[in-house]
Amino acid sequence: VRHLLGIKDITEADIQLIFETADHFKEVLNRPIKKVPSLRDITIANVFFEDSTRTRLSFELAEKRLSADVINFSASGSSVKKGETLLDTVNNILAMKVDMIVMRHSSVGAPHFLSRHIKANIVNAGDGTHEHPTQALLDSFSIREKLGEVAGKKIAIIGDILHSRVALSNIFALQKLGAEVMVCGPSTLIPRYIGELGVKVSHNVRQALEWCDVANVLRIQLERQQGKLFPSLREYTQYFGINKKILESLNKEIVLMHPGPINRGVELSSDAADSGQSIILDQVENGVAVRMAVLYLLASSKE
Ligand code: CP
Repeated sequence: VRHLLGIKDITEADIQLIFETADHFKEVLNRPIKKVPSLRDITIANVFFEDSTRTRLSFELAEKRLSADVINFSASGSSVKKGETLLDTVNNILAMKVDMIVMRHSSVGAPHFLSRHIKANIVNAGDGTHEHPTQALLDSFSIREKLGEVAGKKIAIIGDILHSRVALSNIFALQKLGAEVMVCGPSTLIPRYIGELGVKVSHNVRQALEWCDVANVLRIQLERQQGKLFPSLREYTQYFGINKKILESLNKEIVLMHPGPINRGVELSSDAADSGQSIILDQVENGVAVRMAVLYLLASSKE
């Protein structure tokens, strides 16, 4: 496999290999010397056309821990503002002898388009509302770490499913690994095609929380809703917001996840996000080892 464009395109065996490789890198990251020479002489460009904190820094750190040379590109402040195209931008970066591109773009399919026109390896760091494969890998890796395995577990993905690339990649990853998946949110934030994906659907957050072992809570993506948010943030919090009180009223202790950034006090209260049930910062920690594994395996691939 030359690229990681989406979880839809990879197999359960691919995911298990990424997890086993990430187990090794996580052990390396806990050593006093965290750097390994695996990607020495490989140059990676992180090309971000959309904002990011976690994904961009996590990839950069993963690349540096693997001893790769790293350059970072943000569309803001670049010649994209003068009208340069995506392909021209990337071809100019590749002319500087770059081997791999990690790209985030607001358009669905942008990394797939690139993969048909360039020779370098591509990792999709999020394409619009479509896929965010490394987020799904680190989410499943974190569930496996917390609960021993993913197979047989019940995972509720709660929030703005319609605009979420995290939801789609998680659904593909969790199903490939043998978990049961439920999506939960207001009907206006659940896509019409969801029934074709073989997931349960709920519009009642209590029902979802009572059903699941793990709740992966998603952000309400105001930037993708063009001011037409329904329900309003206040209504969303009233009917779907998760707080410590509702978690304590359940007859079991579920695991709480969120890919970040959190709208604190909207989809998740601080007393829930910062509680002992939350593995939100473990997800971030695991992201570095998982991305090291992805980059290492792609660089070693002969296909
Ligand atoms: N989870 C995630 O993709 O966060 P960023 O947008 O900060 O990268």
